[in-house]
Amino acid sequence: MATQTHFVLLLMVAVIASSVQVHGKLSPTYYSSTCPKALSIVQAGVEAAIKKEARMGASLLRLHFHDCFVNGCDGSILLDDNATFIGEKTAVPNNNSVRGFNVVDDIKAQLEKACPGVVSCADILAIAARDSVIILGGPFWKVRLGRRDSLTASRAAANTSIPAPTSNLSALISSFSAQGLSLKDLVALSGSHTIGLARCTVFRARIYNDSNIDASFAESLQKKCPKSGNDNVTEPLDFQTPTCFDKLYYDNLLKKKGLLHSDQELFNGTNTSAESLVKMYAQDASEFFKDFAKGMVKMGNIKPLTGTAGEIRINCRKAN
Ligand code: HEM
Ligand SMILES: *[C@@H]1O[C@H](CO)[C@@H](O)[C@H](O)[C@H]1NC(C)=O
Ligand SMILES: *[C@@H]1O[C@H](CO)[C@@H](O)[C@H](O)[C@H]1NC(C)=O
Ligand SMILES: *[C@@H]1O[C@H](CO)[C@@H](O)[C@H](O)[C@H]1NC(C)=O
Ligand SMILES: *[C@@H]1O[C@H](CO)[C@@H](O)[C@H](O)[C@H]1NC(C)=O
Ligand SMILES: *[C@@H]1O[C@H](CO)[C@@H](O)[C@H](O)[C@H]1NC(C)=O
Ligand SMILES: *[C@@H]1O[C@H](CO)[C@@H](O)[C@H](O)[C@H]1NC(C)=O
Ligand SMILES: *[C@@H]1O[C@H](CO)[C@@H](O)[C@H](O)[C@H]1NC(C)=O
Ligand SMILES: *[C@@H]1O[C@H](CO)[C@@H](O)[C@H](O)[C@H]1NC(C)=O
Repeated sequence: MATQTHFVLLLMVAVIASSVQVHGKLSPTYYSSTCPKALSIVQAGVEAAIKKEARMGASLLRLHFHDCFVNGCDGSILLDDNATFIGEKTAVPNNNSVRGFNVVDDIKAQLEKACPGVVSCADILAIAARDSVIILGGPFWKVRLGRRDSLTASRAAANTSIPAPTSNLSALISSFSAQGLSLKDLVALSGSHTIGLARCTVFRARIYNDSNIDASFAESLQKKCPKSGNDNVTEPLDFQTPTCFDKLYYDNLLKKKGLLHSDQELFNGTNTSAESLVKMYAQDASEFFKDFAKGMVKMGNIKPLTGTAGEIRINCRKAN
């Protein structure tokens, strides 16, 4: 009797577990029969774009982040505003800041030629982020696929879910924790700032007002980013090697040469766990690469639309 109950319970658990898999799980081989060239088409598009402009790798990586943090990795950031729809693209953290939309459009056009209506825009972002990191010298990971595209986007969630560069450590920790990401994920994924640029407007307060900044570093930045004006002037997030995916971002933090206030918060005498992670990554690029890859897979798994939820957009900028 007892074993029978046991068996039924086990069976129920198995059924529930497998249904969760069917509806929630992404897979590295998702397109292998429906669009075998999907991965190579995206890779070729990313390669061409980075060859044209090295910064584009950084921009594509950030697009995936800003997509995933706002109601999951569902391509919502790609939707254009129109007369009856205001989405995420022009929300404060994105407006005049996120870029790479034309690259995504070009890749999508290639994919639609090869296998119409099959590969989602959300998956393009996930693959393009991975390929960008590899091309710029960072780690490989198997990118999980099978995300579908949202029919809509949330300006309100974009306002609140994307962490601001003025955030303190506890705000950063809660922002990541709200997405199921740990302190380790926060510190490792912030290592994305080993590539790419930021505008004067997002680091001005830091270079004039923060105390935890190297004095000569602040001075040299003040020459390019005055107290007012030049809002759009950009500086590298990693002043040493802005187009190379390496561990120098963490070396910079040890020297109080993080560009953003939020960067330096990870190494600011406030939290010993955060500080030891920064020190570890500064010492050992392979630990950084391993944790970065793990963090990217976790970030890519945030609330995907799967099964029959959402759609496969034909044009990444507009719901079908
Ligand atoms: C921890 C919280 C984070 C904050 C507060 C933050 C904030 C920012 C800001 C303010 C910029 C510059 C934007 C501009 O000048 O318009 C930026 C750039 C960038 N961010 Fe983050 N970020 C964070 C985490 C991440 C994560 C998790 C990733 C990727 C997984 C990422 C990838 C990037 C990249 C690659 C750039 C450069 C983009 C380019 O050059 O086009 N960031 N970030
Ligand atoms: C976005 O930036 C543009 C150009 O600077 C500006 O005209 C527009 O008002 C901004 N949109 C929002 C919603 O802030
Ligand atoms: C900054 O760039 C945006 C477009 O990218 C433009 O609309 C805005 O006018 C520029 N601001 C300044 C101060 O040049
Ligand atoms: C988003 O933030 C902007 C600027 O703070 C604000 O004007 C706008 O009303 C907010 N939108 C939503 C939907 O929360
Ligand atoms: C961090 O920022 C949050 C939100 O801005 C604020 O409420 C909190 O008091 C700050 N915490 C610390 C330790 O400064
Ligand atoms: C620096 O802080 C002061 C006092 O809070 C503020 O008035 C000023 O605008 C800040 N400067 C910058 C460049 O953010
Ligand atoms: C963290 O950095 C900020 C900005 O410079 C500073 O005001 C604060 O005192 C620092 N916290 C600690 C504990 O050092
Ligand atoms: C650092 O932050 C983590 C994550 O929130 C927290 O668990 C830990 O207690 C903090 N450590 C210190 C020394 O503040
Ligand atoms: C506006 O954009 C939304 C989201 O992409 C879309 O559903 C809607 O059809 C668009 N409206 C027009 C008039 O294009």
